[in-house]
Amino acid sequence: MKPAVFVHSWVPEPILADLERRFEVDHVDVFKTGVLPPDEFARHAKGKQGLMVLTAPVPGELLKASAGTLKVVAAVAVGVDNIDVAAATAAGIQVTNTPGVLTDAVADMSIAMVLALGRRLVEADRYTRAGKFGGSSFPLFWGATVVGETLGIIGMGRIGQAVARRARGFGLKLVYHNRNRVDQAIEAELGATWLPLEGLLAAARYVLLLTPLSDQTRHLINAQRLKAMRKDAFLINVSRGPVVHEAALLDALKRGVIAGAALDVYEFEPDITPGLVELDNVVLTPHIASGTVETRHAMVRVAAENLIACLSGAPAPNPVNRV
Ligand code: GLV
Repeated sequence: MKPAVFVHSWVPEPILADLERRFEVDHVDVFKTGVLPPDEFARHAKGKQGLMVLTAPVPGELLKASAGTLKVVAAVAVGVDNIDVAAATAAGIQVTNTPGVLTDAVADMSIAMVLALGRRLVEADRYTRAGKFGGSSFPLFWGATVVGETLGIIGMGRIGQAVARRARGFGLKLVYHNRNRVDQAIEAELGATWLPLEGLLAAARYVLLLTPLSDQTRHLINAQRLKAMRKDAFLINVSRGPVVHEAALLDALKRGVIAGAALDVYEFEPDITPGLVELDNVVLTPHIASGTVETRHAMVRVAAENLIACLSGAPAPNPVNRV
């Protein structure tokens, strides 16, 4: 009998056909339904050997109850904070993700945020659309020159390093903070200097968050850390919303504690703290840092490969936990 899987994701036709050849597939396209409510998700997941999920929460109780049956949860994402990985490990369930294929897309978006903030791109776009461009352009939207400024990257994994390579081309100076320093050879190649977190916050004009969400990084950027940043600094978050205390950020932006922020992710996603959208010094996007055509296809392909490997007894190409 074919293994049964629940796929709660958008899946292009050829990949779905491949999965259907191998498995009994219960497919609920998240593009059509949105993320299923927890009880419905649990109903679909029950008795399955594999799950492939795009952002839906996979709670500990479900994983515990699935021990012995469920073999793999393949996330269509690099961040797996929606999955209780500790509970999965305890239940002997492999969790996998899709690193690598989204590195360039997220790195591009990080640089786009630097430029959008520095050059006040979104504000200027709103102004032009509103038909306000009438006279001389000379006094309009004086921004921050990017070359020669310092970019501080918090979280120097694959994506951080890809951003660093791009940033050098823009003449940005680079500092970074990471739990572990990266290899000296990589530091030298990137021209990036490790700093303690407070040192980075004091030094950088652009502060870019690329950390995974964990108990250690939740509210890493809070009122006190915002105060430790430069008054002319910009905060960019393309990691996970709860890494930033959003109410503290709103307060800091309103009071001029920092100069601006670009957010692709939100603490209470998809809700946005009221007040943020009214501010001119913010750039807001709907969690699309990895959203290019090629990357979205590649993410689904990699998740499917992980599902297939695990259910055929092969090692997962992209394991998140050790089981
Ligand atoms: C997107 O946010 C991802 O984690 O892949």
